[in-house]
Amino acid sequence: MKYSRILGTGSFLPKKILKNADLEKIVDTTDAWIVERTGIRQRHIVSEGENALTMAESAGRQALEAAGLMPKDVDMIIVATTTPIKTFPSTACYLQKSFGIGGCPAFDLNSAACSGFIYGMSIADQYIRQGTIKTALVIGTEVMSAILDWTDRSTCVLFGDGAGAVVLGASDKPGILSTHIHADGSYEDVLSLPIMERKMRSEESIFLQMSGNRLFKLAVNILGDLFEETLAANSLKKSDVDWLIPHQANIRIIQGMAKKLDLPMDRVAVTLDEQGNTSAASIPLALDKVVREGKVKRDQLLLLESFGGGLTWGSALVRF
Ligand code: ACO
Repeated sequence: MKYSRILGTGSFLPKKILKNADLEKIVDTTDAWIVERTGIRQRHIVSEGENALTMAESAGRQALEAAGLMPKDVDMIIVATTTPIKTFPSTACYLQKSFGIGGCPAFDLNSAACSGFIYGMSIADQYIRQGTIKTALVIGTEVMSAILDWTDRSTCVLFGDGAGAVVLGASDKPGILSTHIHADGSYEDVLSLPIMERKMRSEESIFLQMSGNRLFKLAVNILGDLFEETLAANSLKKSDVDWLIPHQANIRIIQGMAKKLDLPMDRVAVTLDEQGNTSAASIPLALDKVVREGKVKRDQLLLLESFGGGLTWGSALVRF
């Protein structure tokens, strides 16, 4: 049986940092409120010349280096982003051009929002398991700062910019054990970015819209069921999980999920305090952090989970 394994990880964060104290000068908020209600202390923000593509390229090259591979070894590029430089050509196509590897399939996944990276891993995993391709580069990259209303304190304090990447490669040894992706369009009004709708109405301001409180409650219920589904599909128990690599939306959601798995917080990858919510980039950024810190060891069992606009949600159970 063929599996796909994580061969390498990489990340990129812009140098510019916006601390909660900086936000106190922009909107009616406080460092204490943001830390207590979300766990976020600062976030990275792009500067001139940085965008979803430049960050994806840096993270992707780092992941390839960690895997000991060259761009020419890549058979498929998937970029998860809600903030591409253009709707088309895709960020993945631009990246393919930068890498000089024309010919392989390359596409963006923007419709799964924050779950885009898990959706991308799931797609790449199917192609690798089938034997159609050997190596895939899956990247999450976001410039959330570009789609925020910086006068709206209920959203602008939550997000940050950055990119994370993994290289998946074919292996006879178990790697990704299973992926589980879902959506429920009846919650389309909870989180959205209505670009075309607003353009058609000639409205100038196009920002992310979120009903945070509803989303919080939905996420807690959905993720609990997702854990059960993921473990049951592999006949595993929660005590088998070594690491939780969660989407970084709110520390209270993350702590609740760790509790559901009976995992201490030192077995949970947390980047939220330093990076905020980087949407599709948050899981690969969190994974890369604990991998580079040498905390995650080969053969440990990792549970990756996400939820986002759509609603969409998904998990990947990975033997690292
Ligand atoms: N500073 C100070 N006060 C604030 C701020 C702020 N930045 N934002 C909101 N408030 C106020 C509200 O106006 C409200 O005031 P009121 O009681 O006078 O009306 C009060 O704080 C409480 O507001 P709530 O929205 O009920 O606060 P809550 O505890 O739910 O926290 C939050 C809000 C942080 C958004 C939380 O609901 C959350 O994290 N939800 C999940 C969000 C999420 O997961 N988003 C991303 C998922 S998908 C993706 O990643 C793109």
